[in-house]
Amino acid sequence: MRYPVEPFRIKVVEPINLPSPEERERLLVEAKYNLFKIPSEKVFIDFLTDSGTGALSHHQWAAMMEADESYAGSRSWFRLKRAIEEFSGYEDPIPVHQGRAAEKLLATIYLHEGAKVVSNTLFDTTRGNFLAVGAEIYDIPTPEALDISSDYPFKGNIDLNRLEELLKEGGVKLVVMVLTNNTGGGQPVDLDNLKEAYALTQRYGVPLIIDACRIAENAYFVKRRNPKYSGWSVKDIVLESFRYSDGAFMSGKKDGLSNMGGFLVLRDERKRMRAKELLILWEGFIHYGGLSGRDMESMAVGLKESLDERYLEHRTGQVAYLTEGIREIGWDVMWPPGGHAAYIEVSEALAHIPKEQFPAHSLVVELYRRGAIRTVEVGSLMFKDAARYEFVRFAIPRRMYSRAHLDYTLDVLRDIYASKGNLRGFRITYEPPHLRHFLAELEPIL
Ligand SMILES: Cc1ncc(COP(=O)(O)O)c(C=O)c1O
Repeated sequence: MRYPVEPFRIKVVEPINLPSPEERERLLVEAKYNLFKIPSEKVFIDFLTDSGTGALSHHQWAAMMEADESYAGSRSWFRLKRAIEEFSGYEDPIPVHQGRAAEKLLATIYLHEGAKVVSNTLFDTTRGNFLAVGAEIYDIPTPEALDISSDYPFKGNIDLNRLEELLKEGGVKLVVMVLTNNTGGGQPVDLDNLKEAYALTQRYGVPLIIDACRIAENAYFVKRRNPKYSGWSVKDIVLESFRYSDGAFMSGKKDGLSNMGGFLVLRDERKRMRAKELLILWEGFIHYGGLSGRDMESMAVGLKESLDERYLEHRTGQVAYLTEGIREIGWDVMWPPGGHAAYIEVSEALAHIPKEQFPAHSLVVELYRRGAIRTVEVGSLMFKDAARYEFVRFAIPRRMYSRAHLDYTLDVLRDIYASKGNLRGFRITYEPPHLRHFLAELEPIL
């Protein structure tokens, strides 16, 4: 495919280093084969996450210079407040330092031991926060998502039939729609699917909350893939999406185009008050919620920039370029390309490594060994028995890497593919009780 032309030029550069093969091997052993523990200076291309890792625009840097760091009533908060209100259509937003702080607030306010939560697929931190209060999680992605190679355009959708069954059974306290569906391969949710899910939750009196961290990317796909909305602006599709919810939370580190930040919005005033009380206890006053004035300025500008359709065309075009290149080599990928990342599904290519030995993690390690490329496993290591796929995720930071970085990655993947039979599995030697992949220690099975 044709590589999309960058709708920006580069003003500041940051050198990156390629450590020697011997150093890479030593670092892998020292990190106990967990790439979260490798110093970023020892990573050549970092696809670990697109969360908070992108480049800021000169408008963002300029706004940050004007930040007001007052504890209460800061000018920067009022700018951010207005930006969130314009972006989401919700009033009276609550700032948080990042998405998971909002998840903890939601878990405390809406959930309890045995409460059911239904989702198109929760992200790992959301899942972790909800499990921590004893909730039961039901991830019910649309059945079309199981065939990863089909052209079905909205594999992020929720299974509406199953949703209705679960609502009928009772005990559901929250439905969470994740836009786009990160764990399910960065796939978009159709606006019509969201509308139908919302109608069902309304009928059964259950609140529907949107995880909005990539709602701009999601809206761009709705415009491109659902002819009904092809004439709409992304801004209007985003606003329309928020209309079909009772609340939303957003990690501003994604489509807020910022290094830090997030927000929570709720229609229910009593719940909002409760969230503010807890915010002061855990995060900070309601005019900063754990953020510096600089962070708030950056996100206020970033939320607007994320709606720029030329930016979104380039962003999704980069993901498509990498995904198509990987598929041409022969790896199975989540198809069609999603919003923020390319995903390789390794179950067939590495069929000689059983699930219990983390085949996708084996490729993650090999990418670092051969090319100092950092990716992340989204499979049995991250989700234990709840894993649906054995993915390696290549999340592309926003406005940061060039075509040559992606081509380098494809070259390394081509080499690995040619000798993939030599890859070996791993066993865990230490794991914490929650979100084990962040701190797990592993060793290769020889
Ligand atoms: C879909 C989704 N929800 C929630 C979060 C949590 O956000 P944060 O990392 O800001 O806590 C993430 C982060 O990657 C995410 O991708």
